[in-house]
Amino acid sequence: MKQKVILDVDTGLDDAAALFLAAGAEELEIVAVIATAGNVGLDKTVENTLNVIETTGLSCPVFAGSAKPLIRQPVEAGDFHGESGLDGPVFGKRVIQELQEEDGVSAMIRLVKRHPGEITIISVGPLTDLAHALRREPALPSLVKEIVVMSGSFSGGNVTKDAEFNAYADPEAAAIVFSSGAPLVMLTLDITRTVTLSRERLDFLRTIEGRSAEVFSQCMDTYMANYEAKKFGWPQMHDPLCVAYVIDRSRFSAEDRRVVVDIDPASPSYGMTSREAIDGEGGVIIPTDVDRPWFWEMVERSLRNLP
Ligand code: BDR
Ligand code: CA
Repeated sequence: MKQKVILDVDTGLDDAAALFLAAGAEELEIVAVIATAGNVGLDKTVENTLNVIETTGLSCPVFAGSAKPLIRQPVEAGDFHGESGLDGPVFGKRVIQELQEEDGVSAMIRLVKRHPGEITIISVGPLTDLAHALRREPALPSLVKEIVVMSGSFSGGNVTKDAEFNAYADPEAAAIVFSSGAPLVMLTLDITRTVTLSRERLDFLRTIEGRSAEVFSQCMDTYMANYEAKKFGWPQMHDPLCVAYVIDRSRFSAEDRRVVVDIDPASPSYGMTSREAIDGEGGVIIPTDVDRPWFWEMVERSLRNLP
């Protein structure tokens, strides 16, 4: 049986890579995609998400999530993703996808209740939608199968010295999610920074036939150029690594910890995540290493599976 997933994304170039990986993965069934504000504003992440899902040929519903963080002023990451959030590909008129009327948080709650214990939520943007859902439906932690997030860092940030973008973009939401008691997996910069795309690999993936591989490659061209311009090295595969974890967790090693978030807006480390030892199990699962050649095999497989 396929694993049912809801993807919560702020599409975003590496979010697009995550969507392609999930859409082409034989192990997964995407029951919904929710676009949230993050890398760029909500109007743009919705548009980008609809365009990427349209490209994959899937007809899964796409919803709009939160337009702004719980408390803080919005911060964006256009310097990595371009002004549109998805600079590179040019999309035509959509024929399959249109935005659902229901809001993303209501859809998340409704779908998880309809399939108790069956849905994994993969969140690769700020954790605002999940925080709203947890507040509105306190039973959510026992109704989800698992929540897998790209958030945080224990070794320095990418937006401030200490904070990772998704945690920094809504620290109060991250704190709600990390203390919710839900079964939680957290992929931090410590692991996602170790999975990077080389020019040789991108040139190889570009040879795969189909519009999905073409759009993926155009996104990664921009992502690579933006990393180069910022002297950040090869582009990091943050968001698709969360999808890879759900495809096959046996390819990862992991530790179990309690996670706390700095939610003092006056602190220089606002949005920083830190971990504490716990007795036994029951904390947040934090993947620490991954089989990288396998990850790239999965990306290639998904692109070959898609139109
Ligand atoms: C995260 O920040 C965003 O810019 C990326 O899409 C990713 O989710 C990495 O810190
Ligand atoms: Ca993202």
